[in-house]
Amino acid sequence: MTAALEMAAIEGGYEPGLPILRGASLSVAPGEIVALLGPNGAGKSTLVKAAAGLVPVWSGRVMLGGRDITGLAAHRMVHEGLGFVPQTENVFANLSVLENLQLASALVARKRRLDLGRMFELFPDLDRQRKLEAGRLSGGQRQMLAVARALVASPSVLMLDEPSAGLSPKLVGVVFERLKAVRDTGVTILLVEQNVKAALAIADRAVVLVEGRERLEGPAAELVNDPRMAALYLGAAA
Ligand SMILES: Nc1ncnc2c1ncn2[C@@H]1O[C@H](COP(=O)(O)OP(=O)(O)O)[C@@H](O)[C@H]1O
Ligand SMILES: [Mg+2]
Repeated sequence: MTAALEMAAIEGGYEPGLPILRGASLSVAPGEIVALLGPNGAGKSTLVKAAAGLVPVWSGRVMLGGRDITGLAAHRMVHEGLGFVPQTENVFANLSVLENLQLASALVARKRRLDLGRMFELFPDLDRQRKLEAGRLSGGQRQMLAVARALVASPSVLMLDEPSAGLSPKLVGVVFERLKAVRDTGVTILLVEQNVKAALAIADRAVVLVEGRERLEGPAAELVNDPRMAALYLGAAA
């Protein structure tokens, strides 16, 4: 089966001669939730930013549904169907919920646009707070607005960078439950997480990145109890 998203032997970084990604590969099958895990500084954010066209890819390939999208500009990635929710600054704090969604919508070609009514069905909390400034939403609702902004472009694959950052365990549960609902609408998900336990609980599979390369990969249910997981995190800390 053709992968929904495939990254093959990606090398890249912010400055020439200083590689952050050192041959990273991963693949996400249609309809899967895959967790991208790994210690702080492993290159998780850099890898999803590279896939999204925000960090240069020096070599390797990014394929979306079998199409080569390596190195396209970020706005072209969105048009091709690759959505990305960055970790920070992912909503306009001084605009209302509705304005945030309308603005996202205005930037998307009409044929890709998801109807905002359908969006509010998926996120009833946002529906109730349409007029509220995004900066006044709770942390969890703000993350949902960021997800909703990305979904406006009807992505086939959505990448999220640590949507649970700064949230209480209860809110992490609420946000992840919504991500499952998003997946159930047919969107494939690549989820970068520090929160290993919570991520493995919703993911089908996980990939562990260390020093810019994948070191371990497998079904989430098996990795939960895999001693190699802890060793990879501890090894990086040592
Ligand atoms: N904008 C940047 N410019 C230069 N180096 C960066 C930048 N962002 C991250 N890095 C470096 O890239 C490496 C990987 O960082 P990152 O991808 O953020 O890791 P992770 O998301 O796994 O914690 C780190 O050494 C970090 O210092
Ligand atoms: Mg990161």
